[in-house]
Amino acid sequence: MINSNESNGLKELIDKLKEARCLSKEEWTWLIAGRTPELSEYLFALAREERHQYYRHDVYVRGLIEFTNYCRNDCLYCGIRKSNQNASRYRLTEEEILSCCRMGYELGFRTFVLQGGEDAYFTDDKIAHLVHCIKDLYPDCAVTLSLGERSYESYKRFFDAGADRYLLRHETYNSAHYAKLHPASLSAAKRQQCLWNLKEIGYQVGTGFMVGSPYQTPENLAEDMLFIHELNPHMVGIGPFIPHHDTPFADKASGTLELTLFMLGLIRLMLPKVLLPATTALGTIHPNGREQGILAGANVVMPNLSPTAVRKDYSLYDNKICTGDEAAECRNCLERRMESIGYQVVTARGDSLNV
Ligand code: 5AD
Ligand code: FES
Repeated sequence: MINSNESNGLKELIDKLKEARCLSKEEWTWLIAGRTPELSEYLFALAREERHQYYRHDVYVRGLIEFTNYCRNDCLYCGIRKSNQNASRYRLTEEEILSCCRMGYELGFRTFVLQGGEDAYFTDDKIAHLVHCIKDLYPDCAVTLSLGERSYESYKRFFDAGADRYLLRHETYNSAHYAKLHPASLSAAKRQQCLWNLKEIGYQVGTGFMVGSPYQTPENLAEDMLFIHELNPHMVGIGPFIPHHDTPFADKASGTLELTLFMLGLIRLMLPKVLLPATTALGTIHPNGREQGILAGANVVMPNLSPTAVRKDYSLYDNKICTGDEAAECRNCLERRMESIGYQVVTARGDSLNV
C-alpha cells in the first residue's frame, strides 16, 4: 500500500502531466505502478474535461472489416498466428468487401477500416485496386488500412491509391519485451520504422499496445508513453491482452480493465486531441468495458462490419464479443450503449484534431 503522502505526490504528477503534456520515464513509472482507485477517478475526470473540450460528447464510429485471417507471422499472443492449425482460415473477395462497405455506408459509416493478417495473397496490386474502388464509390469516406508491416513503397502505393489512414500498433516499445512476444523474424525497431514511414508518407497514423501483455512491467508502459509522445500519432489503440487457447500464451493472465482504463486516461491527458478507441478487447473483458473506456477519455468505437459468417474466425483472443447472433446489430447496440452514458454516436469521417 502506498501512504497518503505518496498518493498526493501522484496527484501532483497528474496535474503536471496536464500542464506539461509529458513526464519523464521515472515519473510515468511511479504513476503507473502507484495508481489507486482514487487517483484513477481524479485522472478520468480530467481526461473527460479534455475530451469534451475538443470532441464534446461525440463518439466516432469506424466500420471494421476483417477481410483475411491468413497471416505469415507467428506472434505468440495472437490466435491467427500461422502455427495455429486449428484456425479456420478465410479471405473475403473484393465483391464481399465492397458489399460490406455498401452495407456500412447505408448504416451511416464514413470510415472503413480494412484489417487483416499479413497475407501475401493480397498483393500491393490487389490492395491498391480495392482502395481505388472504395474511394471511387464513396468519395466522402475515409479508408483506413491495417495490414501490418509492408515496405515504404507499398505503403506509398496504397496512399497514392487513396488510403487516408493506417493502423499499426507498436505493441511494445522495449525491444527485449518485444522479443518475448514475437518470433525472432520480427523486431521492435522494424515495427517502429514502419510507423515513421507511414507518417512521412502522409497517412493519419494510429499506433498502440496491449495492456497487461505477458512480461510487461510498469517501466515498459512508461516507455510506450514516451514513444507515443515522440511519434505524436493521430490515433492510439490500446486494449487488454486476452489469452487465446491455441497459442503459447494460453495460460497467461489477461490484462485488467482497471489498468487499461488508467492508461486510456493518461493517453488522453498526454495527447488531448488524439483519437482514442474503446476497443473490442475492452468490451470483451467486461460487459461495460467500452462504456467505461469512454468515461476514461476514449472517443471512438469500432463496430464490426464483417459478414457474420466469418466473424468467429477472426479470433485473436478468446471470447471475443460481437461474433454470435447479435453481431449484425453492432451499430445499434453501440448507439444505445453510448446514449446510456450520455454520449452520442456521430456520422462523420471523424478526422483527428491531433495534427
Ligand atoms: N489479446 C489482445 N489483443 C490482441 N491483439 C492480438 N492478439 C491479441 C490478444 N491475444 C491485438 C494486437 C494487434 C491488434 C490487431 O490486436 O495488439 O495489433
Ligand atoms: Fe456488437 Fe454490441 S457492439 S453486439
